[in-house]
Amino acid sequence: MEVLLQQIETIKQEVAAFSANNADDAEAFRIKYLGTKGLVKHIMGEMKNVPNEKKKEFGLLLNEFKQFVESKYETLKELTVDNGQLTANIDFSLPGSPVPVGTRHPLSIVRNQIVSIFKRLGFAVAEGPEIEDDWHNFGAMNLPEDHPARDMQDTFYISKNPDWLLRTHTSSVQARVMENQKPPIRVICPGRVYRNETISARAHCFFHQVEGLYVDENVSFADLKQTLYFFVQEMFGKDTKVRFRPSYFPFTEPSAEMDISCLICGGSGCNVCKHTGWVEILGSGMVHPKVLENFSIDANKYTGFAFGMGVERICQLKYRVNDLRLYSQNDVRFLKQFTGAL
Ligand code: DAH
Repeated sequence: MEVLLQQIETIKQEVAAFSANNADDAEAFRIKYLGTKGLVKHIMGEMKNVPNEKKKEFGLLLNEFKQFVESKYETLKELTVDNGQLTANIDFSLPGSPVPVGTRHPLSIVRNQIVSIFKRLGFAVAEGPEIEDDWHNFGAMNLPEDHPARDMQDTFYISKNPDWLLRTHTSSVQARVMENQKPPIRVICPGRVYRNETISARAHCFFHQVEGLYVDENVSFADLKQTLYFFVQEMFGKDTKVRFRPSYFPFTEPSAEMDISCLICGGSGCNVCKHTGWVEILGSGMVHPKVLENFSIDANKYTGFAFGMGVERICQLKYRVNDLRLYSQNDVRFLKQFTGAL
């Protein structure tokens, strides 16, 4: 036993002192200590001569010894990888090469901000498919057969009869939610939508919307106004003013568009607000009773409000992006300017 312990100690010292100048040295080390006829194997073989009561203690010692030799070999290998030459004389005080870190897309930053504000009011996030059928995109939302939005010029149809299309608005997600849930319903639906538009600085064939829907007993237009007012203050700051203008949407009655005071010029007039001091940011209204009834929701018992806003528009106002094409060109010089936390 004593002899064996002594042997292990000697080998350990030898191993610790071993240095390799190249890959051949490292290989010689492996053969001498870790090879099939190497010293580690040999010592392991001595285990059979160890008295039973000492086997456990000795086993631990041997394992530790083996690991010690193996880790030395790993170090030697690492130091001698390049053309078999020693590469250990690296100056570790040199600065490292920076790892490029990506940034979140501005539209994702803004979408996440919108979602987080409505979540605080108890809205849940709902999603739906981008490829839709005519019913969810148009019919259920009370868009009559002859509505111009159904025209091939606006809508990308994938097939006619059965009608498959790329959704033209996230209002289709309202339909999907009401199909599957009973009131109270309180959801926001962020997503991409498609329209057959010629691409320019002001129009694109796809863009992003966030839809909102709240259906319950006693939901009123005052709730709609207060909710959207809260949103604007959180999103754009306490000094931002809002105004509602009467409007028309087939799926809401009454309907209103909401403007905010122009953030670019502070209301004094510029080309973003077309010199009016106001910018439209969303459409909204009280959910049309026909829409509720399409989903067997009793319109005498329940009322609701809905709204839909364009993410690009909000982003334009927050970050002063003046060309819609920038969002999808993937130019890193544009993308890396946005370092929002969300
Ligand atoms: N779907 C409308 C659009 O794409 C936006 C909208 C307006 C959604 C009014 C609504 C709403 O839910 O109530 O232009």
